[in-house]
Amino acid sequence: MMTRMDIQLRSSIAPPADAEAIGHLVFDSLDPVGRPLTLDAEALNRRRFTGKLGETVVLEGDGHLDVLVGVGGRKDWLERRLLQATGSFARAVSGCSRVALDLTGVVGPDVARAVQVAAEGAAGAAYRFKGYKSEDEHSALSEMTFVVEGGAAGEAKTGAARGAAIAAAVWLARDLGNTPAGDLTPKRMAEIASEKAGESGLEVTVFDESRIEQERLGGLLAVARGSAEPPRLVFLRYDPEPGADLPTVALVGKGITFDSGGLSLKTGDGMMAMKSDMSGAAAVVAALSACRELGVSVRVLGVTPLTENMPGGRATKPGDVFVARNGRSVEVLNTDAEGRLVLSDALSLAAEESPDAIIDLATLTGACVVALGRKMAGAMGNDSRLLRAVLRAGQAAGEDCWPLPLPEMYRADIESDVADMKNIGKDGRNAGALVAGLLLQEFVGDRPWVHLDIAGPARSEDDSYDLRKGSTGFGVRTLCELLGTYEPIGGPADQRAGELW
Ligand code: BES
Ligand code: MN
Ligand code: ZN
Repeated sequence: MMTRMDIQLRSSIAPPADAEAIGHLVFDSLDPVGRPLTLDAEALNRRRFTGKLGETVVLEGDGHLDVLVGVGGRKDWLERRLLQATGSFARAVSGCSRVALDLTGVVGPDVARAVQVAAEGAAGAAYRFKGYKSEDEHSALSEMTFVVEGGAAGEAKTGAARGAAIAAAVWLARDLGNTPAGDLTPKRMAEIASEKAGESGLEVTVFDESRIEQERLGGLLAVARGSAEPPRLVFLRYDPEPGADLPTVALVGKGITFDSGGLSLKTGDGMMAMKSDMSGAAAVVAALSACRELGVSVRVLGVTPLTENMPGGRATKPGDVFVARNGRSVEVLNTDAEGRLVLSDALSLAAEESPDAIIDLATLTGACVVALGRKMAGAMGNDSRLLRAVLRAGQAAGEDCWPLPLPEMYRADIESDVADMKNIGKDGRNAGALVAGLLLQEFVGDRPWVHLDIAGPARSEDDSYDLRKGSTGFGVRTLCELLGTYEPIGGPADQRAGELW
């Protein structure tokens, strides 16, 4: 079921002699980015190649194909457009086995960074979900070599290795998101997380149903009640230097392996993509699985509550009240607002460890998709420094995260008649993403915290650049970037996130 990354990403100072295709990045002025090329402007014109981002044209070269790949204008094209253009190149040469891409002349980021980004773009586009078609669709691409200047060989090698590690994590997250819910049950997902933990030097603890009860994870139990599949909660720990005085970053991911809505049942159309309602948890497991290879130098804790949200005979009913781990009572008025319930306990567990920061990822609200569309995550939080760091990491990783507010004035909207709070706002769908964020905030204590609502970008409607239709693995690259460059905050949340806009 799980596909392993089967494309080799390497760097060299020359294309391999047997390369079937060599890619050349070209600006929209039709000037090559790298080594000089003689381009027949009229021929390119006939082929309608203008150098726009992602355009490709395949030309008959000397013993190989020459593929021109547009990157658009010269201004600010790195690193995002390098990632995207490399994805387009990988797509254009998916029928070839061994290919090379000329990255000489790429100036701006250091060479290691450029090769890393290109590797991520290529592997992203080469991804195929395998295991269910009687004849597996596959990309023939088995090896891509990034060509750099002689003096940069060492740096390039480092970059290719980092890119490959991150790309493998993205593939894992996509595989988890694309696997049908009938196969990826909470139990199965916990098993896969444990396997990956074993392979990547992480410590793993899995809570089963009785442990979940023992630990009073009321929100997770409230959601799991309606399902025949038992819930799980997976803890992962990465520790680069046991005993050392290092900050801990806690990652929390929503792991609803299928969201039917529960008794507040979704429509048939509304649940079609709900096998990937565990994409937050997948991103957390995947990012953690890359920490050791990336040499992350902080401790990382992962907490993923895993359950189905189903309308079985014992399901939570609208109006039911549960008590969350931190002792707060929550009235469930809509069982389809289940993500915030499982996250309440997971955030409490994370906060109890007094981490330097908490970041949660969740396919939490349709309202966030309405607000920001399918290409951006909404970012909310209680700390200006952490929010800025996450936004910057997303920017650097080519994953757009846009700040949204957590207005104190809407806190009254989740006041309940019978409990400490209710799980939906009083104003219908209005400000749905913010109301969900405000509920999560109740469970993080004074810890610096950022919530990424990835309901939009967790899935792609089509193949484009480095993305394939289906699960995208969104968040993995942002987390890897953040963890790789993490600056400790060292105190309670500053409650000044509102000053960012
Ligand atoms: N998993 C959904 C959110 C979602 C919607 C993710 C579309 C991806 C695409 C979440 O559990 C949900 O159902 N949210 C409700 C909340 C509402 C009942 C307050 C929603 O957004 O409609
Ligand atoms: Mn739901
Ligand atoms: Zn959901």
